[in-house]
Order: sequence, then structure tokens, then C-alpha cells
Amino acid sequence: MVMDLAGQVVTWQKTHGRNDLPWQNTRDPYRVWLSEVMLQQTQVATVLDYFPRFLDRFPTVASLAAAHLDEVLGLWSGLGYYSRARNLHQCAVDVVGLHGGRFPATAQLLQSLPGIGRSTAAAIASLCFAERVAILDGNVKRVLTRVCGFDADLANAANERRLWDLATQLLPNRDLQHAMPRYTQGVMDLGATVCTAKKPDCSVCPLAQSCVARAQAQPERYPVKTRKLKRSSQSIWLLWAQTGDASVWLSKRPTPGVWAGLYCFPLFDNREALEAAVPAGFHSALLDTPAFTHVLTHKDLHLHPVQVEMPSSAMALSEGGWLAADAWPRLGLPAPVRKLLLQA
Ligand code: ADE
Repeated sequence: MVMDLAGQVVTWQKTHGRNDLPWQNTRDPYRVWLSEVMLQQTQVATVLDYFPRFLDRFPTVASLAAAHLDEVLGLWSGLGYYSRARNLHQCAVDVVGLHGGRFPATAQLLQSLPGIGRSTAAAIASLCFAERVAILDGNVKRVLTRVCGFDADLANAANERRLWDLATQLLPNRDLQHAMPRYTQGVMDLGATVCTAKKPDCSVCPLAQSCVARAQAQPERYPVKTRKLKRSSQSIWLLWAQTGDASVWLSKRPTPGVWAGLYCFPLFDNREALEAAVPAGFHSALLDTPAFTHVLTHKDLHLHPVQVEMPSSAMALSEGGWLAADAWPRLGLPAPVRKLLLQA
């Protein structure tokens, strides 16, 4: 096992880690929280684009709490995984309503807030408050399982708990104010830039000397996780109704369900159901556009958009409204709907 793994990661981070991302060089938990939630399922390059815009509009947790969820979803549009945006808003409301507008300063309390899991809570608490708590996101799992040669199957919850314990044992023990933020950032940076899933660059890794996976010459074998996601698929017909002046009919998706809370074309399980929602006089005007597949985490959606032009007075659906093109950019729209509207 590695001698002083934490110390080596801390030293490496100073010169080789990432040190000027816009959410770094601050211990403001609002900024760190916002960035960590955005980074949960989104690449750094994309977050670099969204983070400043979001902060510009919502400079404080109080301003975010006071906002309408629709506006939050609109600014989140394109980042995907919209439950993150709903939780983000609820979390801001709770910080203001339950914690006097200040983020709690321990991982344990942070974890009680919506959208903050164990690893995100530890990231905020270690980066902002130097608490000695372990993060364990995908990048960190890769680094630690490789260094330690931890080959137990992470599909098994007991093994996952063992890895959390191991991650905790490996944390810095001294000079925590300085070491904890650096270590947390360093172990993430190592996973993102050196100890990558494919073709890790062991030649520049500060832990290479003592890495079990490297000694075995098979770093890509780790982490071990057997269970595959069960994927399903669903076909959906989208009623893409527009008026002569290019307003489209959009309605808000119910919660829970696919695209909950986002503005969307009316959706149907089959073409007959879509047809039944359109006044008979317009059936001959229905135009089937090419179907395409949109991939969600657990599901492939086979989407069949059907266009129709009608006067605004002819719409027979009660849910929704006609929205002109200048309103679309501010709305939370599912990615495939935004794509259809923008390419049209
Ligand atoms: N991914 C998750 N948290 C991150 C951070 N603080 N910096 C870079 N990438 C991250």
C-alpha cells in the first residue's frame, strides 16, 4: 500500500492539478455547491459555460430561493438530468427557510439537503470547511481501486461500503485546513486527467510507484462492477402544432415522469391517440417527420414528431399554450424538442 498517499496527492495537486476553474479559489459554499451539482453528471467544459451565467442571474442562495422554478429550469436547459435543477431550487429554499440562509458546515447536515448525496456533501464540506470526509465519485473510485488493487465487485453494497471506509482511512491526517481542500481537489483531478478510464497515463502519476493495478499492468481492470443497467425503450409521438406565425403549442410535463416540469410538445403513446387530439378537419394536414432516438439514462426514447399547422383558435387541447419563438430560449425544454425547434 502507498506510503502517505494523501501527501503525494496534495503535493501533486499544487503544480499539476486544476487550480483556476471559476468555482475554485473560494470557500464560498454557495459557489462550490452550485458547481458540484452541475459537475455531478456534466463535463467541466460544459459547466464552464453554464456556471457564470447561472451565478450572474442568481448571485446568492437567497436570490435562487426567491426565483420561480421555471426560470431555474430555463437556465438549466441543456445540462440534462433536470431533477438536479428541481433539487437545486428546493435546496436553496431549504437553506434559506431552515438554515437562516447559510449552508450548514458539516457533511452530515449538508447531506440532509435535497440533491446533496454523500459524495457531494463531502466535497462541499472538505473544500469549504476542511472537514476530514471522503468523496467517492466515479473518478475517485477509479483512482482508489487501482492504487489499492481493490477488486471486490462494487455492484455489491457491502463492497461499496468497504471502499468508502478505505477512502476515509486514506484521507490526510495533518494540517487539515490546508490539506483537505487540496486532497479532495487533487484526487478528483488525478482521476479526470491522469487515471482515466481508458489509457491512463501512469508515466505522470504521482502514485505510480506504489499502484497495485500498475504493478499488475492492468489498470483498466478497475473498478470492478458487474451489474449492467437494465435499459428499456419507449415510442412516443409528439404533436408539433404551429400557427401561421410560427407559435408552437407547448405544455408543462407533469411530475413525476419523463421531462417532469419542462415545456414540451403534447406527447402520445401512439399515432392514433395523437390524431384523436387533433380536430378532424386537420387530420389530412398531419405531416410525419423523421423518427429519431433520444437516449436517457435508463431508457431509449423513439421519438416520432408529427407536424401540423392550424389557426390558434383550432387547438382542442386544454393543457398548454401557444408560445412564440422569442419565448423558447427562456423555457426549460427537453433537448430533443429544443433541437427540433431550432433546426426548423
Ligand atoms: N468534478 C466534480 N467536482 C469537480 C471539481 N471541483 N473540479 C473539477 N471537476 C469536478
